[in-house]
Amino acid sequence: MTQEIHSLDAADLNPTEMYLLLRDAVIPRPIAWVSSVDVDGRSNLAPYSFFNVCSNVPPVLGFAVGPRGKDKLTGALIEKDTLANIKATGELVVNIVPEELIEPMVRTATGLEPGEDEFAFAGLTQAPSEKVRPGRVLGAPVAFECRLFQIVEVGTHHWVMGEIVRIHIDERIYVGAYKGLNHRVDPLRVEALRPVGRLGRAYYTRLREIDTILRSDASND
Ligand SMILES: Cc1cc2nc3c(=O)[nH]c(=O)nc-3n(C[C@H](O)[C@H](O)[C@H](O)COP(=O)(O)O)c2cc1C
Repeated sequence: MTQEIHSLDAADLNPTEMYLLLRDAVIPRPIAWVSSVDVDGRSNLAPYSFFNVCSNVPPVLGFAVGPRGKDKLTGALIEKDTLANIKATGELVVNIVPEELIEPMVRTATGLEPGEDEFAFAGLTQAPSEKVRPGRVLGAPVAFECRLFQIVEVGTHHWVMGEIVRIHIDERIYVGAYKGLNHRVDPLRVEALRPVGRLGRAYYTRLREIDTILRSDASND
């Protein structure tokens, strides 16, 4: 196979060009829809697609929060509310985004003033959590209540890691015991899970085609 390749030195891209290249090429990305509260208990909700699983022991999820912008006077980077809230309270909920909530999810990315509630702004209903103060998004197929594990500064970003303490799963994807292990979910029950992924620009993807690729050294359990 011949393939023509355009190769670049990372140093030749300015910060915005690098951000856009990463955003548009590292796709599709899962989306952490993160709810948090400030010290006065006011709710905040925002999507983060620089997101993944860090560990199962302990169970840790991580996502990267970039700066909101620069202070016009001092030039200092301004923190997003999610980061400020998690630093202040040590708690968060990571919700998985279902197709039905794509539009409100995007609305929750609007840069509201600190303390303004994106749940209300996007017409979403909050369900109470059990172990942490931030609520979860009603309608999310899976929601992970988390306590702050660690925040690592990575250049302009903060990699926020939350340790999962309680999990809420839509009964339609929860199968319970399967092949000797409990608490299983079925990722093929996409009619209920229907997770949304982020592509570049304003593009999103819905899960439609699934291939089965068996490994010789692993089961499909
Ligand atoms: C689908 C989607 C994914 C996003 N992913 C990120 C991300 O990974 N990191 C980030 O800093 N901002 C990301 N954003 C932008 C934030 O959601 C946006 O800046 C938001 O206003 C932050 O809210 P907050 O200040 O209430 O935390 C994303 C936006 C959308 C729509």
